[in-house]
Amino acid sequence: MVTLERLSSQLGIELHMKRDDLTGSHLSGNKIRKLDFLLADAMELDATHVITCGGLQSNHARATALAAVQLGLSPVLLLRTANGRESDLPNPPTANVLLDRLSGARIETCTPVDYRERRNQLMDELAHDLKMHGGRPYVIPEGGSNALGALGYVACAREILAQLEEPPDAVVVATGSGGTLAGLALGFEDAGVHTRAIGVAVCDDAAYFETVVDRIADDAHRIHGLPVLSPGRYTVLEGFQGRGYGLTTDPELAFLTERVRKDGIALDPVYTNKAMLGLVTTLRNDPTAFGRRVVFIHTGGIFGLFAHADHLAAVAE
Ligand SMILES: Cc1ncc(COP(=O)(O)O)c(C=O)c1O
Repeated sequence: MVTLERLSSQLGIELHMKRDDLTGSHLSGNKIRKLDFLLADAMELDATHVITCGGLQSNHARATALAAVQLGLSPVLLLRTANGRESDLPNPPTANVLLDRLSGARIETCTPVDYRERRNQLMDELAHDLKMHGGRPYVIPEGGSNALGALGYVACAREILAQLEEPPDAVVVATGSGGTLAGLALGFEDAGVHTRAIGVAVCDDAAYFETVVDRIADDAHRIHGLPVLSPGRYTVLEGFQGRGYGLTTDPELAFLTERVRKDGIALDPVYTNKAMLGLVTTLRNDPTAFGRRVVFIHTGGIFGLFAHADHLAAVAE
């Protein structure tokens, strides 16, 4: 945890940053906290393969592939590409896709429509196929966002509370598949503190994420005995999705560059930069919006920078 002194004084609050981008190097970011629980389950079930899915440059897919290999499991990735063809993958491979390739993961592709409408079915089909050949596949949903994965962020909420003298008023995080936000909300609820979890949507909208978070929270209550969320425990902030998932604009990348130049911290263009932009813009309009003591979680995604190198280089001139 670090205190962002300059931004704190500019915004008139106490702003801390939880460095979950430092959870590892090639395994960096928020996904590893969820994978701690999910892959333990896979090992317990004596799995041979791990199947998961994500966007073309998915951090979750990359982290899952590398963590699976470390445990002796074979990764299978279903990636969403422009036309659902393998030839859509960057050639030569870049950023997360390069690491996916290096891990030796089997990569399957699907169209955006198939991904939206039947990614779980497609993963089940891959699992069925592996079973027919004697494998024991373990399927992890998009972003590792289910009740078990969310336990990683229940633990993170406890860690944040232990690191600060007083509980923060709010913890702000990028939201892409909802599990991180759900875990934080559950963790603060369980700890009985007043801290609110604020998720900045980087795709979809608030209504979508509320359904996802409520479903994960219900499952976590039923399966893991976590408390029911009280009203207002979490909020989804929208308006910062920009041009949509994985897409960027000049002003967004100018903001990202400013953060590196002023604070020495590189955010990623797909998640954390949009979330930080949401936090700063909201607080510039209303400095009291999140309370006095706020924690921003840097959830990683550093390899995403390299997938946007040309655009970034042009903006950062
Ligand atoms: C770097 C980064 N930050 C934030 C998120 C969002 O987390 P979640 O999917 O749990 O909402 C993701 C993944 O989606 C991510 O890769």
